[in-house]
Amino acid sequence: MKKIFVTGGAGYIGSHVVKALGERGFDVLTYDNLSTGHAEAVLHGQLVVGDLSDSELLRRTLNHYRPDGVIHFAAHIEVAESVDNPLKYYRNNTLNALNLWEILRELNLSNVIFSSTAAVYGIPEHNPVTEETPPAPINPYGASKMMSERVLADLAAATRDFKYVALRYFNVAGADPQGRIGQKYRNATHLITRALKTAKGEYDGLQVFGTDYPTPDGTCIRDYIHVDDLAAAHLAALDHLAAGHGSGVFNCGYGHGYSVKEVVAVARQVTGIDFRVEEAPRRAGDPPALVADSRRLRQATGWQPRHDDLDFIVRTAWEWEKRLG
Ligand code: UFG
Repeated sequence: MKKIFVTGGAGYIGSHVVKALGERGFDVLTYDNLSTGHAEAVLHGQLVVGDLSDSELLRRTLNHYRPDGVIHFAAHIEVAESVDNPLKYYRNNTLNALNLWEILRELNLSNVIFSSTAAVYGIPEHNPVTEETPPAPINPYGASKMMSERVLADLAAATRDFKYVALRYFNVAGADPQGRIGQKYRNATHLITRALKTAKGEYDGLQVFGTDYPTPDGTCIRDYIHVDDLAAAHLAALDHLAAGHGSGVFNCGYGHGYSVKEVVAVARQVTGIDFRVEEAPRRAGDPPALVADSRRLRQATGWQPRHDDLDFIVRTAWEWEKRLG
């Protein structure tokens, strides 16, 4: 594989994957409407500014570029917003994805890597969660991604020359260690980003949502994965398909988690700022613990994490936050 088409390559995770593809010598074309992405985050290849719903532009761009592989990030990702506005999520994350698969089929293109999420598991009974755990999303965001996965599975089963890998991301965090790219959303809701913005003084205090969970310190446990390790999983998935393996679904996480209180402690230590923390009620829809069993990804693709270190994750995110000013 030489040429990779990346939707959403100007976004947080997409831009780290474009960086990794460029560093490995791939030819990359990013297709992004820049609704939440940033043109300057695309460090390699070309950028075509376009919307996934613009079938004509999408078809023309794909037909002209003729990629060997397609990585599909472009999606809405806010759980709370998906609850308030489910149609927005089903339209963009499910319908627009279907539109993309249709065009790929029309043009006889294959080798799709699809951004999925641990949100497909809902509130799992057991941790670490394996890919065998039946999907049971509890919000439209998770459901919209699960539906796209299902369409891909059915399509691959029906089509001999169509293959895909769905990657189920756990809690992605951190930034480019060289400080060139990182998370840059208007209203970030993620724990590490909120904690660091609180340290910077953007918020008066950090709320800890729920301290009465059935976990050792009462706060929720998550599997935080550095965005560059997640990016490497995408390259491993492409290699997997290029080596002739079939379609698959893989969890992306480290296999162990940290509580909200543990993350707060690391954020205070890394920043050297004793920012204010207040206990708040539980946030709706938060599972007590969500930790990936990532053995399948490691065994099938040989993926090995390089930054399994919460201190490093928070440090790279902090360097990026400071650059944002
Ligand atoms: N949290 C706080 N205070 C905050 C923000 C978060 O206490 O200000 C807590 C949450 O309640 C949760 C934990 O920190 O217990 C992590 O919350 P995040 O919002 O950082 O991440 P989530 O686990 O809710 O969700 C993330 C992605 C989703 C994805 C999900 C899958 O945001 O898109 O992981 O695991 F679906």
